[in-house]
Parts: sequence; C-alpha cells; structure tokens
Amino acid sequence: MRYSEEQLQVDYRLLHDLAEPATALLERHLDVTKSWYPFEDVPFQDARPFSHDGTWDPGEYPLEPGVRSALIVNLLTEDNLPYYTNTLLGAVSADHPLSEWSRRWTAEEWRHSAAIRDWILATRAVDPYQLERDRMVQMTGGIVPESPCAAEMFAYVSFQELATQVAHRNTARHLDRERQGKIVMSKVAGDEGLHHAFYRDLVAEALRINPNYMMVSIQRQLRSFKMPGQGIPGFSEHEVAIALSGIFDAEQFLEAVVKPTLDAWDIDSIEGLDESGEKARAKIHRNVQGLTRLATSHRRKLETANAS
Ligand SMILES: [Fe+2]
Ligand SMILES: [Fe+2]
Repeated sequence: MRYSEEQLQVDYRLLHDLAEPATALLERHLDVTKSWYPFEDVPFQDARPFSHDGTWDPGEYPLEPGVRSALIVNLLTEDNLPYYTNTLLGAVSADHPLSEWSRRWTAEEWRHSAAIRDWILATRAVDPYQLERDRMVQMTGGIVPESPCAAEMFAYVSFQELATQVAHRNTARHLDRERQGKIVMSKVAGDEGLHHAFYRDLVAEALRINPNYMMVSIQRQLRSFKMPGQGIPGFSEHEVAIALSGIFDAEQFLEAVVKPTLDAWDIDSIEGLDESGEKARAKIHRNVQGLTRLATSHRRKLETANAS
C-alpha cells in the first residue's frame, strides 16, 4: 500500500521529532550493550576440511529436523542483512541519529551470521552445501519485509526483533553446552533483545508524539506481520518443522511477542485519540483475538499430531 504525500509529510515530521529520543536511546544502547567476539565460542577444535564431494552426514550431529530448520532460517535471515540495512538507511536522512543507529545495528547483526555460520561449519550441524545453495537463492532474491513509511517500519521491527530473540533463545535450548551451540545462540538472542528494546521504546516515543498516526501504523503491521526469511527456499516447510519443535509458533508469537510489546506500549491507557486512532486501537484488539484463535487451533493440531 502506498502512502499519500500528505501522510508522508506526517511521517517526516514524526521522524524529525524522534531525533532527540533516538539519540537518547542510542546512547542507552551503547551503555548497556556488551561487545562480544563471534569466533570465541566456536569449537574450531572440532572442525576439519570438507571433502569437495558435496556430501554431508546428518549423523555427525544428530538433531531433530525442526532444530536444523531453525538454524537454517536463523542464519539465512541474518545473511540477508544488506537488504535490511538498505531499507533502514533508506528511511532516514544520513544526518539523522537513526542513520547512526542503523549502521551500529548492521555491525551487530553481522556478528550473528558470522557466529552462527562458523559454529555450523565447525560442528556440521546443518548440511553446509544445501545451506550455501539456499543462501545464494535467498540473497539473490533479496526479499525483506517492506513498509510504506518509517512509522510502520518501527512497528514491524519492534515485533520482529523480539520474535527473532524468542526463536534464537528457543533454538539454544535444543543445543548442547559442550559443543557451544547453546552459548552462541544465547549471545545472539541477547543482542536481539536489546534491538527490540531500542525499537519498542522508539515506538513508545512515537506514540507520545503522534498517538493517532502511530496507533494506525502498529495496527497495520500487526495485521500483516510475517516472520523474516520469506525468500528462503522451503520456508513454509521450515516454519512447520520449527513449530513442531516448539521453537516458534503462533502461540509464542502471541504470548511472547505481541502481548508483551503491546503491554509495554500500554496502548489502552493512551488518551485523546481521534476517530482514526480509536478505530486502530479497536482493530488491534480484534487482531489479538484473531491471533488467539489461530494459536488455539495450531495447538490443537499439534496435540492431534503428537497423539497419533
Ligand atoms: Fe540478528
Ligand atoms: Fe536484531
């Protein structure tokens, strides 16, 4: 959906007014974030050369299919970083503090693909040949979620960073500490939590500055939310496998992502909304009800599948 020139002017004004809070949030992020080295926790002592024959033995690192799917989707999503950076930097002028934030964010996100890929190559937890073929497809396609304006993008990434944290953290739970997978994925999840906090609190500021416009933006992105990684070959099959492993599903999206984020924004306490804002808030409640029905039906299907 394209925004009118008038709507985009509202977006520009919001971005202008967000410059000060964004500066404060960037400073807070730099204060609390801990630098870490993506190579330190990789068990390089287990690594050995590949055979050049394109073969991989899943028995070298037995894992249930959903965990392998999660590793593939997690890594290939991180690999698609250039296109996310392009979108984020394209939304703001070069001298806006959000431009500096986006560059810092890019530097942190790169660590994730470095750490996860090195860990996978050292442990052979995933077929590296298939992974590389899928990376080529994913990055050549360059598919990332696009938002028609900055406000919607901030709403999207608030949900997405938390969803990614939940997926990484739950993947970590399935990996063992001896071969370091638990540690690598936990460190990545920690970064995603801080990214979520940045965007969540940026949206809170935007709700204070222009509650009607931001409420509409949140509603649009909640209604259309899709996890990143849609351009990954076999994404739907991976999604099902990941859900079956309990790593990420509709219920986790609702309970661990949507509800805590909406609670943090305290959307029911926002006063003085006009008709558009009130309508958007009511639609958010309906969206949550729809997600609740979806999560319930997914859980029933899962229970039936497990029982048979
Ligand atoms: Fe990441
Ligand atoms: Fe992130």
